[in-house]
Amino acid sequence: MRVVFLGPPGAGKGTQARLLAEREGVPHVATGDLFRAAVASATELGRRVAEFLQAGRLVPDEVTVAVVAERLGRDDCRRGFVLDGFPRTETQAEALDRVLSDLGWDLDAAVALEVPDGEVVRRLSGRRVCSVCGANYHVEFLPPSRPGLCDACGGTLVQRDDDREETVRVRLAVYREQAEPVLAYYRRRGLLRVVAGDRPAAEVAAAVAGLAGRHAPANP
Ligand code: AP5
Repeated sequence: MRVVFLGPPGAGKGTQARLLAEREGVPHVATGDLFRAAVASATELGRRVAEFLQAGRLVPDEVTVAVVAERLGRDDCRRGFVLDGFPRTETQAEALDRVLSDLGWDLDAAVALEVPDGEVVRRLSGRRVCSVCGANYHVEFLPPSRPGLCDACGGTLVQRDDDREETVRVRLAVYREQAEPVLAYYRRRGLLRVVAGDRPAAEVAAAVAGLAGRHAPANP
């Protein structure tokens, strides 16, 4: 299975991409996670992208495409992958097609999660992530069993730097500027599957499971 997840910040791309990847036994490849890991380890890539993440702006296409091409070229992606947060521009969508075509692969579906802006702000302001293993929680919708501590590894839960309200507003505006050409790109190719994301995560997952396969019906 080769699937990309599209949608605004906080739409649940990471939540759903992780579930689908686990179910299918393929890697979950999230550009945001790759960039944050690079920043945390102060690599050359991390130094190049830090200011973009901090401001909620997109990392330049050529940097992002190179990171994704390298990741998809690794052995564990041969059986498939679930891409989360990429592509975000039409240039990235075209580049992804070239990368896949070089590897002799096709994309099965582009799943777009739709969530209204008000819900995005609610979700991101309540999101907490584990500082050790990266697991995701929400103070209201998905609280940990012990406040402030990760259920999986006991690590401390923190708020992402770019989940501050003013940065969330920038990220949403950037998404609204770039999203339509990417959605149109996949709509034209018959790969777009639109899923309502403003309902419980398990319901969204069930809808995604029925839509993400190669032979699933396209949305009108
Ligand atoms: P990235 O990490 O990709 O951030 P994002 O797209 O803004 O998405 P988020 O991770 O914030 O949200 P999500 O949709 O994954 O939602 P989640 O499942 O966590 O990118 C960060 C930055 O990296 C960008 O700003 C940019 O600088 C750079 N970047 C990344 N990719 C790039 C690219 N391709 N090109 C250029 N730059 C790039 O859920 C959110 C919260 O809601 C969680 O707390 C969760 O528990 C909760 N939740 C999830 N689903 C539900 C539900 N159904 N009901 C209730 N709560 C829910």
